[in-house]
This record gives sequence, C-alpha cells and structure tokens, in this order.
Amino acid sequence: MAPWDQMQLVQVDTTPPVAHVTLNRPDKLNALNRTMMRELTLAWGKILQAKDVRAVVLTGAGERAFAAGADIAELAELDAATAQALSKNGNDLMSGIERFAVPWIAAINGFALGGGLELALACTLRIASENARLGQPEVKLGLIPGYGGTQRLTRLIGPARAQEMILTGEPITAQEALRIGLVSRVVPRAELLAAADALAAQIAANAPLAVRWARQAVAGGDAGPELESSLFGLCCATADMKEGTRAFIEKRVPAFQGK
Ligand code: COA
Repeated sequence: MAPWDQMQLVQVDTTPPVAHVTLNRPDKLNALNRTMMRELTLAWGKILQAKDVRAVVLTGAGERAFAAGADIAELAELDAATAQALSKNGNDLMSGIERFAVPWIAAINGFALGGGLELALACTLRIASENARLGQPEVKLGLIPGYGGTQRLTRLIGPARAQEMILTGEPITAQEALRIGLVSRVVPRAELLAAADALAAQIAANAPLAVRWARQAVAGGDAGPELESSLFGLCCATADMKEGTRAFIEKRVPAFQGK
C-alpha cells in the first residue's frame, strides 16, 4: 500500500489533466497540524509521479476555511529548536509547491490565515470566494509568519502593505485582496471550484513547456530579463512551439505533447 493510501487529513485526486488536493480537517477550520503537513508532502509526491497532470487545484473542505493557520495547540508546545525545524520543514514544502513542474491554484473558500495564507502564497495563482478572509495573525500569538509569508507576501503586494498585514495581524476581505493583487479573482462561494477548474483547464490546454518556462521567467528576480530571453529561445526549440504556431496559421486547435 502506498503511503498516500492511508492519508486522513488530505485528499488527493490525480486524474489528469487537473489534480485536486483538499485539506480535510473542517472541524478545526483545516488548521495545518503535523499530520496534515506530512500528508500534504505525500500528496505533493503523488502528484509529482502522476502522468499528464498539468495543473493542481488546492482547496479546503467545508464551508468556512481554506486553512486557518498552523495548529495553535501544537505551536503552544514548541521550543526554539523544534520551532526552527518546523519552520524549515514548512518552508521546504512551500518552496516545493512554488517550484512544482505545473502550477498550483489555491481556491480560497473562507479563512486563509497564517500558514493557510502562506500555503496559498506558495501557489502560482489564488482565487477567492466572496466570503474569504486573508491574514497573517501570527503577531497576535507572539509569533511571526514561519512558512515563507514574510518573503512571498512582500514580493506579491509590496513591503508597505505586507508590513501592515503582518504587523497588525488583521485579516482583509476578498475584495481588498483582489484590489491589492493578493488574489486574481473573486467569485461567489458556490462558483469557486468551478472557476478554479476552468482556470486550471485553460492552463492545461496550453503548451506544457511554455507554461513551465513562463512561470520561471515571471519568478526570475534580478536575473529575470536574461532568464526570459534564454527560456524564450528554448521555447523555439520545442515541437509544441512549431505545432502551436502552425496550428494558428492553419486555423486549427493545436495538439500539444509537452515536447
Ligand atoms: N489551530 C488550531 N485550531 C484551530 C485553529 C488553528 N489555527 N483555527 C481554528 N481552530 C479550531 C478552533 O479551536 C475550534 O475548535 P473547537 O471547536 O474544538 O473549539 C474550531 O477550529 C473552530 O474555530 P472557532 O475559533 O471556534 O471558530 P470562529 O468562527 O469563532 O473563529 C477564526 C474563526 C478563524 C477567527 C478563529 O478560529 C481563529 O482566530 N483561528 C486562529 C487563526 C490564527 O491565529 N492562525 C494563525 C496561527 S499561526
């Protein structure tokens, strides 16, 4: 039996082309305890091995939360050394999601707080339901974000807004998150998963290597322009680029092969 067959708090479905991951601890607002973090890592590994998956949709079970943060009962027991190790493990998982071969889309269906928001930040795209609330409330607990929030939130919305969210600990509404670019869409709660699936399907229909390299170029940082040029060059060495341009000229739908 594979390790992911015994998962209790994370559901994963790798049916191509769009894999689905659901955080499944709704009675605790999908708070990320150690078991859930371990199972999320297993889900990540399962999707890595799955064939023909071209996007991943990540959401939370239940009506109230994507994830309301790391498990505060577990945090309360940490000392400095175990806390540092916990943060390092969490950061490794978030980086693994951020750099995954295909994009992850966070479908934020309620609270995305603390580690829950950091998990959404590691995804390539975030869309939210109208009732979503997003925040980094760690300072209210005597903590700081520990799963990459100080870095990714700052890159995404700029230092002033990131400092305000992190230093006040106050959550913002979905509409405010849309206004400042923390999420790219807000939809009614009932339409959230369909909207995430439609977005994933749109991405999945495009040339896989071009999608992967476009993400790398967008994340390029200081070396971005050079990286963009070399990846643009690489695209032109792929069969999919030949197919995509030829299909346009021949007025037909391209058949991409990821080559
Ligand atoms: N860790 C552990 N348990 C959590 C949790 C977390 N981060 N967030 C919520 N829960 C649990 C609650 O303890 C409660 O469990 P119980 O029913 O066994 O008492 C259950 O989830 C429901 O939460 P509750 O607080 O009763 O719901 P609410 O509607 O009154 O409040 C929130 C919702 C999100 C405002 C509130 O749960 C909250 O502030 N959570 C913590 C957010 C946070 O600080 N996250 C960052 C951690 S670093």
